[in-house]
Amino acid sequence: MPHPFDPGYAQPPFDSLCREYPGADIYPPEDFRVEWGPIFHRGRLDGSARVLVIGQDPGAHECIARRILVGEAGQRVQGFLARLGITTSYVMLNAFVYPVYGQSGGNRHIGDEAIAAYRNRWLDAVLVDSRVEAVVTFGQLADRAWRQWKQTPAGAASSIASQALRHPTYPESSSKGNRQKRAEAMRAMLAQWNDGLEQLAAAIQHPDEPRDLVPYGEALEPGDLAPIPEEDLPAGVPAWMRSVESWATRSGETTEAKRATVVVTVPKTLRPWTPIEP
Ligand code: URA
Repeated sequence: MPHPFDPGYAQPPFDSLCREYPGADIYPPEDFRVEWGPIFHRGRLDGSARVLVIGQDPGAHECIARRILVGEAGQRVQGFLARLGITTSYVMLNAFVYPVYGQSGGNRHIGDEAIAAYRNRWLDAVLVDSRVEAVVTFGQLADRAWRQWKQTPAGAASSIASQALRHPTYPESSSKGNRQKRAEAMRAMLAQWNDGLEQLAAAIQHPDEPRDLVPYGEALEPGDLAPIPEEDLPAGVPAWMRSVESWATRSGETTEAKRATVVVTVPKTLRPWTPIEP
């Protein structure tokens, strides 16, 4: 069976964007995990995207897979796009190309001129003279990134529809382990996402697979997370890295060790070998 893969960044202007990525002089290492290298995007860079998703910053899964939004948040986003009939014609960017380190770094640096200038080059590259019909931002930092681009000449000239929605991991990040709070936050998020879906469906004229809009219920069902398509990841990336199982986690006895370590584990249900009985 042939294996589609993401061809990467060989075409202009993406080749220059990758060559000229910002380093630790622009993204301070006390606030960003620059040691994992920048992670740029996921999805179509060939001009076929109809929807642009803006997320926040890459996590542990993304640091290994080298594409953004592949972990839990990404699978929730993938399920969201599927409700709109968007199964391949999307492109995703994050507000930051490096993972934020610590609680407040994101807010502190979202408006940094050099960070915004580089991000705006990416937004120009995927939006100007493009076929994109709608933009969806997930989380406040993504929304701020979008509004910063709208203040640029290219952004001001653009009339692409946009929706600012809560981040897919808002229920977890806002509830700090409290199950009831998590359930309430999930309900609020999905209600907002349902409104967003209606607005976006009206703006998207060319879905990949036209379908009737089905709203979310009050909680995410297992089927609301979609695996990451093979064509979104670099050649040869194993299938379990695209699955809805978790496979990467930061681990270490000390802050220092944890920052330096990501443990990658092949999910139990996706091991191609016969398990050895203990
Ligand atoms: N991973 C990303 O790449 N972006 C997010 O916003 C969350 C997780």
